[in-house]
Amino acid sequence: MNQKDKFYRAYMDFFETAERKRRWNIFDDVPWDQISPETNSEQRAIRIETYCAEEMYLPDYNIAGVEMARGVFGLAWFQTAWSLEESRHGLVLKEYLLRSGLRSPAQIDKLETDPRLISPIAHRKSARSSRTINRSRQFSSCSAATKPRTQASTAR
Ligand SMILES: [Fe+2]
Repeated sequence: MNQKDKFYRAYMDFFETAERKRRWNIFDDVPWDQISPETNSEQRAIRIETYCAEEMYLPDYNIAGVEMARGVFGLAWFQTAWSLEESRHGLVLKEYLLRSGLRSPAQIDKLETDPRLISPIAHRKSARSSRTINRSRQFSSCSAATKPRTQASTAR
């Protein structure tokens, strides 16, 4: 078995265990109805917000991880699966902050858009992303050729 096959096998073993034993979701598996806003404190808010902020780097970790691992199927898919799991952590912390009343939607929005939370990777990628968005717009107008043409799609 070559190295690439070993990574694939390792990923599939991990994935099978994860699918059978570790899956959870933030909608059904978190006892949201047991939140006690009367126990809220600024100290608790700061602690949770700190971990939530760390999780907000996930897109940056994922960009770098996928770029490093893309050539090896097992590694790239592990990176992708890991990213999904990590996204749950960030979302559950954000939802806890909001549902408990520890933070308002405006405070969460401010946290998410804080430039200190946008890593150099994201800054570097932002120029590339805008080019990609423009290209995907071109692509979607190309794929629209298979659909009935509307006035909007023919105007491009
Ligand atoms: Fe996490």
